[in-house]
Amino acid sequence: MQPRLETEHLFKVFGRRPDDSVRRLRQGADREELRADGTTAAVIDASFRVEAGEIFVVMGLSGSGKSTLLRTLNGLLEPTAGSVRFDGQDLTELTARELRELRSKKISMVFQHFALFPHRSVRDNAAYGLFVQGVPRAERERRAEEALALCGLAGWEDSWPDELSGGMQQRVGLARALATDADLLLMDESFSALDPLIRRDMQDQLLELQKTLKKTIVFITHDLNEAMRLGDRIAVMRDGRIVQTGTAEDILLRPANDYVASFIQDVDRSRVLTAGALMDTSVTSDAPLCGCETATRDTPFTELCAISARLSHRVSVVDEANRVIGVVPRQRVVGFLGDETADPAPCDNPDGKVIARA
Ligand SMILES: Nc1ncnc2c1ncn2[C@@H]1O[C@H](COP(=O)(O)OP(=O)(O)OP(=O)(O)O)[C@@H](O)[C@H]1O
Ligand SMILES: [Mg+2]
Repeated sequence: MQPRLETEHLFKVFGRRPDDSVRRLRQGADREELRADGTTAAVIDASFRVEAGEIFVVMGLSGSGKSTLLRTLNGLLEPTAGSVRFDGQDLTELTARELRELRSKKISMVFQHFALFPHRSVRDNAAYGLFVQGVPRAERERRAEEALALCGLAGWEDSWPDELSGGMQQRVGLARALATDADLLLMDESFSALDPLIRRDMQDQLLELQKTLKKTIVFITHDLNEAMRLGDRIAVMRDGRIVQTGTAEDILLRPANDYVASFIQDVDRSRVLTAGALMDTSVTSDAPLCGCETATRDTPFTELCAISARLSHRVSVVDEANRVIGVVPRQRVVGFLGDETADPAPCDNPDGKVIARA
């Protein structure tokens, strides 16, 4: 299937002689070497695909090139080399007018500090993208109200922005993006300015909305926990390069290098890992037998620990048809709790068979 968005060997260099810089970067030069000449290699050789309906998170420290990368995805910045394709169309082949059309209809951006118009109502702020598109008033108000309701702001349509809290204002920004029906959302640190609790709320709300709206979302963050919560897949950037792309579990269980490994040191694994990521798939069976509790692929680690503790032997992981698709040995659960030396209880369910799901 064609990805929604695809970049191939994308470079963005600011400063003098960008083509020469790309040539040197391709030969293995790094950012520091170019900086000596007054050139900034913001994005270096980035290749990735974003599938329709996916939340793709780009994560990295400040200055790693996230915002620059994001701006090339909607054509606000032209790549120095390489390509960006949206629905198979190379953005560099579009005219300025076609690009503007694409940005107003198909792609929406939500920023960290969403600038609302202070003298327009919440409704008009949410309808702004549609106003720019020339959608008639009645229709744009209806669609803005729908989007505001989706973002938990029903009843606030006639308020002014300064009557809303920071979190609510950010929701208006999200509503504005949703109201346009754009199916690609580019979100740059959209929740970073919010208090931790409100931020978590917004993350939950986005995940909830995404269940029904199934937008394609590229979400930028420097917060690893946020990346892990939201991302179907995560690209980790360092100094302009993508150093690893994978699911949260890939990154936690198989960090590509020491940099990623040190980055993930402090992540709360119990929130991210699931039985599916930890199971040993060499043990399978279609004929469940004993009455033990089981897990499913999506059972979170914390629940898995509880099941494992109650069973005192390995936990069987079953699919929708109650077939055993793998087992999680007790030592693996204990290992991820951080106590590798614990003596695992002997397994009294050697063939991993079950009869009932928990
Ligand atoms: N227009 C520009 N001209 C020159 N250099 C730029 C420009 N835009 C970005 N840069 C440089 O490119 C590098 C990457 O910047 P970028 O804003 O993409 O990083 P970021 O990962 O989004 O950082 P932050 O988390 O702080 O937002 C930085 O060194 C920055 O100074
Ligand atoms: Mg940025």
